[in-house]
Amino acid sequence: MLLPDYKEAKKRTKGNTEKEFYSISSDLKKIGKNKKYYVKTYGCQMNEHDSENIEAMLEEMGFNKATDYEEADVIILNTCSIRENAHNKAFGMLGRLKHLKEVHKDVVIGICGCMAQEEKVVNEIITKYKYVNFVFGTHNIHRLPYVLNEAIKNNKQEIEVFSKEGNIVEGMPVKRVSKFKAYVNIMYGCDKFCTYCIVPFTRGMQRSRDKDDILREIGILVKDGYQEVTLLGQNVNAYGKDLDNDYDMSNLLEDVAKTGIPRVRFMTSHPWDFTDKMIEIIKKYDNIMPSIHLPVQSGSSRILKLMGRKYTKEEYIELFNKLREIPNVAISTDIIVGFPNETREDFEETLELCKYCKYDNAYTFIFSPREGTPASKMKDNVPLKEKEERLYELNELVNTYFKESNEKYLNKTIKVLVEGESEKEGMYFGYSEQNKLINFYADEKDIGKIIDVKIESAKTWSLDGKKVE
Ligand code: SAH
Ligand code: SF4
Ligand code: F3S
Repeated sequence: MLLPDYKEAKKRTKGNTEKEFYSISSDLKKIGKNKKYYVKTYGCQMNEHDSENIEAMLEEMGFNKATDYEEADVIILNTCSIRENAHNKAFGMLGRLKHLKEVHKDVVIGICGCMAQEEKVVNEIITKYKYVNFVFGTHNIHRLPYVLNEAIKNNKQEIEVFSKEGNIVEGMPVKRVSKFKAYVNIMYGCDKFCTYCIVPFTRGMQRSRDKDDILREIGILVKDGYQEVTLLGQNVNAYGKDLDNDYDMSNLLEDVAKTGIPRVRFMTSHPWDFTDKMIEIIKKYDNIMPSIHLPVQSGSSRILKLMGRKYTKEEYIELFNKLREIPNVAISTDIIVGFPNETREDFEETLELCKYCKYDNAYTFIFSPREGTPASKMKDNVPLKEKEERLYELNELVNTYFKESNEKYLNKTIKVLVEGESEKEGMYFGYSEQNKLINFYADEKDIGKIIDVKIESAKTWSLDGKKVE
């Protein structure tokens, strides 16, 4: 049994990350024969992409994908710790699985993802959720075949969670959800330690992938006809800072653009590391999408300082104004309301900032204390009801800007990557260069292609249009 330890997780040591290659022994390739798996994913794109690796490993072991968890022999929950409600969702699902296990006692249940890195969660699994068969963490996803095999063989709870990040593992198999849009990790972990955030504990020290490995992976995607790649990291702008070379995010963006893949996206950008050079590269290449996610978190410099974000409201606005000069750019953000002791004045500064920035999209959250983080220990004098009212007020404001920003596209013809049939009958859906959701009339043969769509109506969350022949 290898359990997570927060003290270990917090340690940062420089320069000891090495590269290793994934491999699986041939005896493990048979254990899934005639069996089915089901993976349920919570959380961010990083987790979605990890699930693409997890599913591929399961298929390598001979398992087939089940359409529903009730018909699966192995069920894995890839969990998220970012806020309390993410936790509750996973535990809610575990409750349902308990019932399933009562009627189908051979089903094997596994937990992975960020919650698996939390000491408290794993202790709870050991004491209260004895029917969970195995747990593995974010640092040892590649160990899934071994951990699962042990769990099946020994018929006891198998827990293997590395507290600290290990090597960067290359060559893991991947079963991509889409045939034309792909996620590519460019780095793992985060060293920013924003005071509210659990990610540096659950994902470990920042480790950038070797540029040659990244470019090789994208080269294969290009050959396979992929239209879009999203470069993933908690903090992509800091790419390379942990490596011993002068190669940074602007260099990587440029090299990825040069591969000729039609669309390049990246997320998430921390305002602190956004360089002028990056902005120049974004402007220079048409295939780098003019869509920037720039989380601000708060409009009050006092709160930003308490959050450990390392920029002031003024510095954020200065960067925001530079980014606005990128032609046709759309800028989105994340905002937390109700950070401990946030005053009405602090909150009003957030509202003022939103009135200034008029974001194209914003993800808004109520502060959720995460065990082990500095902010969770701060005394808080703001009642939850007031936080909920602030969230409501903020949402009312930002929503008006989403609609306004969408209205700019009325009667214009824009490029859309067609993803599939829309929920709206007879229509298809896809995303514009600015990452706006578009529903439109087109043909089935357009799926997977970038086409011209004329916009006919604008709503808060999406736009409607028609293919231009
Ligand atoms: N690395 C990204 C953020 C990843 S988490 C960045 O720094 O921009 C996604 C978002 O969740 C954060 O931007 C933040 O707005 C929100 N978040 C993180 N921890 C939170 C917490 N404890 N309570 C509420 N929201 C939180
Ligand atoms: Fe969390 Fe801050 Fe790192 Fe983003 S930059 S993952 S908010 S610690
Ligand atoms: Fe959640 Fe972990 Fe992503 S906490 S947001 S799944 S990095």
